[in-house]
Order: sequence, then structure tokens, then C-alpha cells
Amino acid sequence: MILLTGGTGFLGGSFYMDAVRNGTAEDYLLLVRGPNEAACRARLASNLARHSDPETAKAAASLCAILPGDLQSLATSPDPRLDAVSHIVHIAADTSFDSRHSVWQINVDGTLALAARARRMKHLKRFLHIGTAFCCGEAPHLEMVHEAPPPPTGTAHIVEYTRSKAAAEMALASGFPELPLVVARPSIVVGHSKLGCQPSSSIFWFFRLVDHTGVLPCSPNGFIDIVPVDWTSARLHDLLRKPDLKHSLYHVSAGWGSRTTWAAFEAAFAQQGHDGVRPYTFFDRDDPQGWRLFSAAYRDRFTKRDALNRTMSVGARKYHRFTAQDIAFDNTRLLAEGFEAPPLFADFLGPCLANPGTSISEQFLEDAGSFEFDESLAKVPA
Ligand SMILES: NC(=O)c1ccc[n+]([C@@H]2O[C@H](COP(=O)([O-])OP(=O)(O)OC[C@H]3O[C@@H](n4cnc5c(N)ncnc54)[C@H](OP(=O)(O)O)[C@@H]3O)[C@@H](O)[C@H]2O)c1
Repeated sequence: MILLTGGTGFLGGSFYMDAVRNGTAEDYLLLVRGPNEAACRARLASNLARHSDPETAKAAASLCAILPGDLQSLATSPDPRLDAVSHIVHIAADTSFDSRHSVWQINVDGTLALAARARRMKHLKRFLHIGTAFCCGEAPHLEMVHEAPPPPTGTAHIVEYTRSKAAAEMALASGFPELPLVVARPSIVVGHSKLGCQPSSSIFWFFRLVDHTGVLPCSPNGFIDIVPVDWTSARLHDLLRKPDLKHSLYHVSAGWGSRTTWAAFEAAFAQQGHDGVRPYTFFDRDDPQGWRLFSAAYRDRFTKRDALNRTMSVGARKYHRFTAQDIAFDNTRLLAEGFEAPPLFADFLGPCLANPGTSISEQFLEDAGSFEFDESLAKVPA
């Protein structure tokens, strides 16, 4: 039996749909938050519908076994099905950029509760933990980052989320050395190479905003590491299944070969006929004048002074701190295992723009909760 956490999320939904397609969904036990099995299946089906259609999703959600509950409840869970688990895919996390407390409760305490229960799983062969490549902290500029243990807790991080993910990896390594742990660290997972943003428009709104404003705190020679969710989830299946992996830590990333230079980013949006301001203006992230330039461009392009646009501007500045690093994550280890190479951003930008074809502000709503925006107040401009 394979225990999957995070099946109601973006990456976990894609991962589970892969299992449905490859005929292994019945081997899965999904941990889902909800009061009972029926409610959990309904929540799962509603997420899977974004990765397929409502009918397929309902059928898919009925194939697996369900364990209602949250990560924190696992340490003491007496459910006997957990004793039969041979593989764990731990995708669940609090990915909020604004939370200071719950990221620690869920990403660290929740992961350790799962690990404590895993210790008692006699048949466990692999514990695939999903980290994040950005657990490296706020990295030096223009770098290809290589897999390495997470940096010490005091390292600078842009958001508490990445610090908590680094802490979770450290706690797993030091507290549970006997577990058959493999860590997969995705870079920036955006869109789906065929379904576009139907599964989620998380982060994609920001890339559109970059093109729409045309001002960014990066180097003209810089780059960014973007991978689509279907390629990422397929690599997680590879990492779960391959018995003789050479390493216990992998970036699941675009790497050198498929990183997106800002020149390629700009050209790809131009080719799709997106409403952008080009050529882009680049400024130094430490230059306050540059940020003034960004604010002016933002006001120009998002003219309404409402709560949604104000929150989106806060979100954009936070994401810009990530892009300003101009970094990508080396994926030599992953490719050396013989796994499929990632596609280029330009190859899946078209589907992302076409589906569902909504405005930048509407797409931002997917992430707005992460910046403490009250969605009940949202009046989305058409
Ligand atoms: N998306 C990216 O760009 C990216 C990049 C690098 C790494 N990652 C990593 O990939 C993983 C998935 O990210 P995502 O973007 O798919 O996130 P997501 O869409 O926000 O999904 C998070 C999932 O975790 C579940 N979850 C949260 N707290 C839980 C708890 N206490 N107990 C049980 N389940 C809980 C959520 O369940 P509910 O539905 O009940 O809330 C949901 O299924 C995370 O580990 C993240 O750190 C993501």
C-alpha cells in the first residue's frame, strides 16, 4: 500500500491522477482532511476535476482508500492500514507565504508526526518527502544551485514557508536516520503542459504580471527555473518506483538545459500575443529607484485602487524577491537516473494562457489567501 498526503492539492492531485492513469490508484491510501470518508472523497473529487473533468474525477476519487485526518493526527493513529504501507509520498504542506505559525505546525510538526508513524511501518521501503528547492534560503545572485543539505536555521529566507521546509528536512535527517528517506525538491511548479492553468493558476498570474508591467529586479542575463506540474508529478513517480537510486536528494527542476532566460521569457510571451510592455526594463533589486519604476508601471497597468490590486502588488513584490535571485537548480542527478528531461517554459506557455483564459487578477485569487486577502471582498475586474 502507498500512503499519499496532499492529494487535494495542486501537485498531489496531478500525482494521484498519474496513478489513476497507470492503473495503480487502488494501491493508494490517501490522507485527506475532512470529517468523514464521504466528505474526503468529495473534496478529492473536486480537486481531481481540475486535473480532468467532473465525471472522470468522481470515478478516480472512488478508486483509492481514504484515511480522514490531518498530518498531526498520524503519530498516534491506530488505523491498521498504516501498518501495511510500503511507500510514502509526502506532498502535503502549508505553502502560504504569509503564515508564520501554521507553516511550522504543518510542515515541521506534521512531517515529524508522519515520520514517527512511519517508524512503526514494518514494510516501509521508501519515504519520498517533497521539499522545495528554495529551502536553500535567499541565494547569491545568478547561480546554478546544487543539491546540498539545507542551510542552518539562521540563514536568510524570503518567507517563513521555505525556512520551515528546510527545518523539516533537517529534523527528518537528524531524528529519523533509519527511515528509507528520499527527498525531492521541486523548483517553481507552474501550470500543466496540456491543461494549462486549469489545475491551478498559482504563480502563473505573477509571470503574466511581469510581462504586463515589463519591469523586473533582475539581471538581463538572468534566468528562472519553471517546471509544469505534470512533468513534476511524473518525476515523483520515477523517484518513488526506481529501486536503486544513486542519491537520497534530488532537485526536480528545469536545470541548466531547460531554465528560462529572461530573454526567452519575454520572447515567449511576445510570441503568444500577450498584452505586455517590451522590451523589459531591468533594475538592481537593491535600488529603491527601480522599485519606484516598478510601482509606477504597476499603477499604469492595474488602474483600479481596490483591495485586490493592492494585495496583488504586495504579492508581486514578494515573488519578485525570488526572481531577483536569477537562479536555477541543477538537475544533473535527476537526468542521470535516466528520467525524462523537463520541457521549456515556452512549450507550455500557450496552454497556460489559453486555459482558462481569465484575467491576471482572477488568476491571482488562487494565491491571494497566501497574502491574507479576504476573498469575500473580491470584486474581480473582467
Ligand atoms: N507549487 C510549487 O511551486 C512548489 C514548488 C516547490 C515545492 N513544492 C512543494 O510541493 C508540495 C505541494 O505543493 P502544492 O503547490 O501542491 O500545494 P497545495 O496546492 O497548497 O496543496 C497542499 C496540500 O497539503 C494538504 N495539507 C495542508 N495541511 C495539511 C495537514 N495539516 N494535514 C494534511 N494535509 C494537509 C492540503 O490539504 P487541504 O486540501 O485539506 O488544504 C493540500 O492537499 C509542498 O510540499 C510544497 O512545499 C511546491
